Amino acid sequence: MAGALLSALFLLQLLGMDRGRNEELRLYHHLFDNYDPQCRPVREPEDTVSINIKVTLTNLISLNEKEETLTTSVWIGIDWDDYRLNFSKKDFGDIGILRVPSTHVWLPEIVLENNIDGQFGVAYDCNVLVYEGGHVSWLPPAIYRSVCAVEVSYFPFDWQNCSLVFRSQTYNAQEVEFVFVVGDDGETISKIDIDTEAYTENGEWAIDFCPGEIHRQDGGSADGAGGIDIVYTLIIRRKPLFYIINIIVPCVLISGLVLLAYFLPAQAGGQKCTVSINVLLAQTVFLFLIAQKIPETSLSVPLLGRYLIFVMWFATLIVMNCVVVLNVSLRTPTTHATVPAAAPRERGVLLELLPRLLGSGAPPEAPGAASPPRRASSVGLLLRAEELILKKPRSELVFEGQRYRHGTWTAALYQSLGAAAPEIRCCVDAVNFMAESTRDQEASGEEVSDWVRMGKALDNICFWAALVLFSVGSSLIFLGGYLNQVPDLPYPPCMLQP
Ligand SMILES: *[C@@H]1O[C@H](CO)[C@@H](O)[C@H](O)[C@H]1NC(C)=O
Ligand SMILES: *[C@@H]1O[C@H](CO)[C@@H](O)[C@H](O)[C@H]1NC(C)=O
Repeated sequence: MAGALLSALFLLQLLGMDRGRNEELRLYHHLFDNYDPQCRPVREPEDTVSINIKVTLTNLISLNEKEETLTTSVWIGIDWDDYRLNFSKKDFGDIGILRVPSTHVWLPEIVLENNIDGQFGVAYDCNVLVYEGGHVSWLPPAIYRSVCAVEVSYFPFDWQNCSLVFRSQTYNAQEVEFVFVVGDDGETISKIDIDTEAYTENGEWAIDFCPGEIHRQDGGSADGAGGIDIVYTLIIRRKPLFYIINIIVPCVLISGLVLLAYFLPAQAGGQKCTVSINVLLAQTVFLFLIAQKIPETSLSVPLLGRYLIFVMWFATLIVMNCVVVLNVSLRTPTTHATVPAAAPRERGVLLELLPRLLGSGAPPEAPGAASPPRRASSVGLLLRAEELILKKPRSELVFEGQRYRHGTWTAALYQSLGAAAPEIRCCVDAVNFMAESTRDQEASGEEVSDWVRMGKALDNICFWAALVLFSVGSSLIFLGGYLNQVPDLPYPPCMLQP
């Protein structure tokens, strides 16, 4: 009983197998029973297999400037005719397409020649489609990391020229031939195909041109056949906004701060230097950031690097300048000879002409004042008091003068006072001494303020000079970057603008 059931099942299975085997398997066996994937699909040895190729870019993943590597995600569409796979769908129950693993059919062995990571082939070995009439089509996806020499001169306003070089690893130009696919509208698709719907826009790079070219090399060997390859060129342009926001604007702002050092009063002394040296340090940080980003090449200096060198040089100049101006403005009569007096012309230029030209606060000078010295109000008051004191003669004269002026009784009083109290004489002496030293101090104070004003005038000149230098230098450098546009190449634009 059980034996009969088993044999019935077996029979059913056989029948089922026979039904599943029906057309597709029959076609498979028809095509591949005598098929050798090692042999080129040509009837005569001198025939050439014509390979239609179309590369579709789905994503420009990244360009690593430091490693000079371009990473792309592409679909490589290749199709050709294999006469051994010729069938008619009438004979096989209307099956138009047969899908077989790619290892079962002959492949032209197309590799990316300029890859950089040893991944020559495709990322996923998808099935090959065999169409009625022997047409074979294969569309494997691939992630390629290819070498791309990065030109850093205009970083971050640069554009790059990267290429993808495909060739058949083992077949020469006489055995296989590459042609570009002809599109539905009868137009040859020679550029990299970018489907705007499938393509993911890269945030950093825009693709301007992506032409493809087929190169045949004349081999020098005896059989005369050289290689054949397809070179796709990607002209990509950097979108600089990221670098403008994150590096250029902060860098220009911080470097501009160094100009403020000139507005610090001369008395602030070392703080002028502190400001400029802090700016110098901040610029070093930016230089470090850029150095991490670009390749370690000595062939050229990137634009941003040039700008940083410029502003660092500028800040260094300002530090030196501040020190020199400090040297002038913090001079005192006890340490330096009175240069303003010694060189009246310079004094005139620095203390009168320049402040007037630059429209900065010339010291308030009373127009009708007869006395040349310019004094701050409190100082003037002191001086007047001092003059008052100085008009009085010395103590002896006081006492003697009083005698003649006020008659004998007062003279006697003074005399007795003078005789009775030598302390008073001492006191008068002391007052006179104080007056004298105050006058000295006043004179030296005046000279100190002359030095300070001279330093201020120097600061003023230097500020304007530095402002002009900074703005002209910055604009020239960035203008160079702005003018570095992709040239108008004789290729159709890569992406049709939606
Ligand atoms: C396929 O076979 C048919 C006839 O069976 C023939 O006409 C056609 O040219 C063949 N195609 C190829 C590519 O050999
Ligand atoms: C890009 O590079 C290729 C070779 O690497 C060169 O033939 C081509 O002229 C370059 N294109 C431009 C626009 O520089």
